[in-house]
Order: sequence, then structure tokens, then C-alpha cells
Amino acid sequence: MAGVAHAPTSVSFDCTNERATERLGATLAGAVQSLGDGPVLITLSGELGAGKTTLVRAILRGLGHPGTVPSPTYMLLEPYEAGGWAIAHVDCYRLQRASDLENLGLRDWLSGRRLILVEWPENAAGGLPVADVHIVIEMVADRRTIDLRGATEKGVALIALIARQAGAEG
Ligand SMILES: Nc1ncnc2c1ncn2[C@@H]1O[C@H](COP(=O)(O)OP(=O)(O)OP(=O)(O)O)[C@@H](O)[C@H]1O
Ligand SMILES: [Mg+2]
Repeated sequence: MAGVAHAPTSVSFDCTNERATERLGATLAGAVQSLGDGPVLITLSGELGAGKTTLVRAILRGLGHPGTVPSPTYMLLEPYEAGGWAIAHVDCYRLQRASDLENLGLRDWLSGRRLILVEWPENAAGGLPVADVHIVIEMVADRRTIDLRGATEKGVALIALIARQAGAEG
């Protein structure tokens, strides 16, 4: 249909240094806050050292978490409370069995103002609920291209908020 404006379903950022990735995390946190209600599931893909945890850390800081954010590689899940949201940082890198993921009870967790951030979703082999936003990070030296794609109605709304916010920041 001609003349109908669609909301963008994806947005891409060129983060030339770690600071830029951290700014994007802060923008994402602001968008989640603007969304007002959850649950929100976001997956983060990219090779070792791409910057997935760096981005998660910045999102948590942006939501107001003052403390450290360890990589949950050995814990599988680290829970946080910040900015009125309950947040779960999940890392599937060392996931052995999909049943380990089932035991975390993520599906039950997906209600209200809850945000789940999952690194290495590829290793979850279909054991994850449908993600609202897929983030893919590509790296060349210190440069990171970060693509965010909305995959549900809520995810697309989040992408629109991020695009608007990033536009306002210039
Ligand atoms: N533009 C950039 N954005 C993010 N991180 C960057 C950037 N440039 C360099 N880095 C460095 O890349 C590394 C990213 O590490 P991080 O732990 O966030 O990656 P990861 O994707 O979570 O890896 P893993 O798969 O092991 O969990 C850090 O050492 C960070 O300092
Ligand atoms: Mg990591």
C-alpha cells in the first residue's frame, strides 16, 4: 500500500569505541523505561569478545544499577533489580543441556516489568521463549557494528524508541 509509513523494525549503530557501545546501552535502557511495561526478552549474538557483556553492563547502569556486573558465564543467570525492573542476565555459552535452561524457569519469569538479556542464545537450541529484540554485534578491531532487530510488536516499539532517541542525540 502506497503512502503508509511503517515503523522501522531494525536499527544499526557504528560504535567506534567502547564508549559508543556504552552510550548505546544507556539509550536502550532509556527506551526500555519509556516502554513502561514488560516483559522484554533481548538476545545478544556475536563472537567471543564482541561486546555483549559490555552492552548488558551499560543497559544495567542506564537502568540505575550502581554495582558491578560480572559475566555470568559460570552462573548461567545473574539477577538484578534496577529502575523498577527485575532484570536477568543470562549467558548460554557453557550451557550443556537445554534442560538446564528449563530449570531456570525463564518462561514463568516472563511477566510484568521484567527484562531478560541473553548472551549466546544460539546455544539454547530452541529452549528460549520468542525474543522481542535480536542484537547482533560484529567486530573489526575496536569497531563494532551493532544491529538491533525487533521481532515482536513490543520489540518493534522498542526499536522505534531507540531510533527516535538516537536521532535526538544526533
Ligand atoms: N567498540 C567497542 N564496543 C565494545 N567493546 C569493545 C569495543 N572496542 C573494544 N572493546 C573491548 O572488547 C571487549 C568486549 O568484551 P565483552 O566481555 O563485552 O564481550 P562478550 O561479547 O560478552 O564476550 P563473551 O562471548 O566472551 O561473553 C572488552 O574487552 C572491551 O574493552
Ligand atoms: Mg559476555
